[in-house]
Amino acid sequence: MKRVAIYPGSFDPFTNGHLNIIERGVKVFDNVIVAVAHNVSKKTIFTLDERVKIIREIFKGRPEVRVDYFQGLLVEYAKKLGTNIVLRGMRTVSDFEYELQMALSNKTLYPELETIFMVTESPHSHISSSLIKEIISLGGSAKEMVPEIVEKKLRKKLFKK
Ligand code: PNS
Repeated sequence: MKRVAIYPGSFDPFTNGHLNIIERGVKVFDNVIVAVAHNVSKKTIFTLDERVKIIREIFKGRPEVRVDYFQGLLVEYAKKLGTNIVLRGMRTVSDFEYELQMALSNKTLYPELETIFMVTESPHSHISSSLIKEIISLGGSAKEMVPEIVEKKLRKKLFKK
C-alpha cells in the first residue's frame, strides 16, 4: 500500500521552508499531498486559487507531489482521501504549542490520524510567511526565503495599487 501524507497549510505565501519539508517528505512517503487550506475567515494576500496555482507551478512534473485544497476540517479531508498521515514542519520552540494543540485535537477527532513532524532545517527555520510579506512590502529581497515565482507574484500583489 502506498504511504500518502497530507501536508496542510495556509501557504500564504509558500516559502523555502515549506519546500524543504516537502522535498524531505517525498523521501519518506510515496506521495505528499500539499493541501492548501481555504479558511474563509482568514484574510490572505493570495486567493486560494492563486496559492494552488503557484504551488502547482513549483511542483510541475513531480508526480509524487500533488497539490490540492480543502475547506472545513482537516480530519474530514484526510478521511475523504483515505489517508491517516499528516506531515507538519516545526521551526522553533514557539511553534510547538500550536502544533501540539492541533495534533492532539485532530487525534481526538480522528484517533487513527498520525501527525508526523519534521524539524525545519536551520537555513529555513527563521522564515515566516508574515516576515516575508513585510520584507517585500518594505522594498527588501526575499530571494533566499521563497521560490522565485513567489517573490515575483508577491511583489506584483503588494505593489499593485
Ligand atoms: O500554515 P498554517 O496556517 O499553520 O496551517 C494551519 C492549518 C491550515 C493546517 C490548520 O489551520 C487546519 O488544519 N485548518 C483546517 C481546519 C481544521 O481542521 N481545524 C482544526 C485543527 S485542530
